[in-house]
Amino acid sequence: MAKNGPSEDSNDTMTHLKFFKKFKHLNPLEPSLGILGFFLVTALFVSCFFYLDYRSVARGLRSRGIALLGLHGFSSPPPSFSSPCANVRPGFLDEGGDKCDVFDGNWVWDETYPLYQSQNCSLMDQGFRCSENGRTDNFHTKWRWQPKTCNLPRFDAGKMLEKLRNRRLVFVGDSIGRNQWESLLCMLSSAIPNKTSIYEVNGSPITKHSGFLVFKFEDFNCTVEYYRAPFLVVQGHPPAGAPAEVKTTLRVDLIDWSCSQWRHADVLVLNAGHWWTNSKTIREGCYFQEGNEVKMNMSVETAFRRSIETVVDFITTQVNMSKTHVFFRTFAPVHFRGGDWNTGGGCHLETLPDLGPFPAVSERHFNLVFDVLAEHSNETQGMRLDLLNVTNMSLGRKDGHPSVYYLGPKYGLASLHHQDCSHWCLPGVPDSWNELLYALFLKQDLIRTRNLNESH
Ligand SMILES: *[C@@H]1O[C@H](CO)[C@@H](O)[C@H](O)[C@H]1NC(C)=O
Ligand SMILES: *[C@@H]1O[C@H](CO)[C@@H](O)[C@H](O)[C@H]1NC(C)=O
Ligand SMILES: *[C@@H]1O[C@H](CO)[C@@H](O)[C@H](O)[C@H]1NC(C)=O
Ligand SMILES: *[C@@H]1O[C@H](CO)[C@@H](O)[C@H](O)[C@H]1NC(C)=O
Ligand SMILES: *[C@@H]1O[C@H](CO)[C@@H](O)[C@H](O)[C@H]1NC(C)=O
Ligand SMILES: *[C@@H]1O[C@H](CO)[C@@H](O)[C@H](O)[C@H]1NC(C)=O
Ligand SMILES: *[C@@H]1O[C@H](CO)[C@@H](O)[C@H](O)[C@H]1NC(C)=O
Ligand SMILES: *[C@@H]1O[C@H](CO)[C@@H](O)[C@H](O)[C@H]1NC(C)=O
Repeated sequence: MAKNGPSEDSNDTMTHLKFFKKFKHLNPLEPSLGILGFFLVTALFVSCFFYLDYRSVARGLRSRGIALLGLHGFSSPPPSFSSPCANVRPGFLDEGGDKCDVFDGNWVWDETYPLYQSQNCSLMDQGFRCSENGRTDNFHTKWRWQPKTCNLPRFDAGKMLEKLRNRRLVFVGDSIGRNQWESLLCMLSSAIPNKTSIYEVNGSPITKHSGFLVFKFEDFNCTVEYYRAPFLVVQGHPPAGAPAEVKTTLRVDLIDWSCSQWRHADVLVLNAGHWWTNSKTIREGCYFQEGNEVKMNMSVETAFRRSIETVVDFITTQVNMSKTHVFFRTFAPVHFRGGDWNTGGGCHLETLPDLGPFPAVSERHFNLVFDVLAEHSNETQGMRLDLLNVTNMSLGRKDGHPSVYYLGPKYGLASLHHQDCSHWCLPGVPDSWNELLYALFLKQDLIRTRNLNESH
């Protein structure tokens, strides 16, 4: 979109593009009549997306030029406005939805979103509370994920909690996993009027650096837990006799020590990727170890692959797959423009999703999870092991990150040079990942009941 020059809108009509350019020059913290006016126009414009297939508009746009999005374009709506497909898609949980790839789809505007308000949820880090931290646009909370060939069940917190009765749902991974965990806590707690009946079993507060947190939903005797293990494998002291530059090692052949606490969970959601970079390992003096040997020239990519193999091996041999439903969430893309996370890159003032097409995920090794799982498919066949394939769907959501709104009202906005374009605002994109988790979880449950009925 940004590639369109100003010459394309020669008349006086305020186009979408101009509008957002203008918006960017205004300070969002000083509301003025002008902003209010702009906001109304935008709200009008955006509400036209209601129930509209975003991607097909995008396609229309590319072939017709951006002018279509100008206000004059509304007198002749694009053909996709009356798409009848929405009504003929089967539900994912119906038998007709069995073959549906829920990860292949589009973001559609939905006025009924978000599913909760951050103000109403105490189970969330300050860093994800974008609107409370000063973000004034809330468009990013209004997109629903719509698979191409089926409809997802609407998230029903009460139903999910009922399915989780007397069970444990555990997230293990890095802070993006924590982001998703807090999203689910808020989604679930929205169905519980008595908030004091939801508590951390050790009385620990939600803070960034805890090793693990276990929240209990008392009425359902179920827990929703998070274990911090950004590499999923053990990080520890180097063995005796290691070279001096080795400060710590990652045991790529040994699963994180916390595994004894989560391997008996009923639902397990694993993730890794963001920490498997040179800057977070070798450059910090963290090398890779197998057995007693430090592999001084093992690459990050090889080490990551080895660790995923270790995880898959652990799942197939140490986790009771007839009890535990395992999900592996794929890498969540970051959106730093004009630099990286530590060199002043940013995503500030991104208010709309990208229309694509997207460049291939550059950090190829993040998706080697796919490859490892495919290689081991003969061992995992028939097991309840699902990929939460969120990478593609999140690629376009450059509007979903906290950017400068992660410090909290006391501290104001962060510096433009220190933006957060890795984590996600809540409510926001991780809610959609959890809706997919919910759908796949219910689907498994259905299949299990179906099989039980057949065998009896
Ligand atoms: C993940 O989803 C994308 C989009 O539907 C698809 O192109 C890709 O093949 C999927 N990957 C796997 C391993 O299922
Ligand atoms: C948030 O809480 C307020 C006050 O209790 C309530 O009116 C509102 O409906 C809640 N919003 C959501 C989305 O649950
Ligand atoms: C509560 O759930 C746990 C499993 O998380 C189970 O071991 C325990 O028996 C349950 N308690 C009751 C009273 O059902
Ligand atoms: C809410 O939950 C707490 C903790 O279980 C309990 O002590 C309290 O009685 C409950 N309040 C209501 C109104 O049910
Ligand atoms: C790995 O390091 C050893 C020395 O420790 C060296 O002999 C070997 O050539 C290196 N291999 C590669 C692929 O760099
Ligand atoms: C695995 O889980 C199933 C279902 O909960 C249980 O019946 C079975 O005994 C478990 N197997 C082992 C080896 O613990
Ligand atoms: C899976 O396939 C690999 C080679 O493709 C083989 O080495 C391994 O033994 C197979 N595992 C099982 C459980 O069949
Ligand atoms: C999803 O990813 C695959 C492989 O990286 C790519 O070929 C495909 O075009 C992507 N799909 C979308 C919708 O971006």
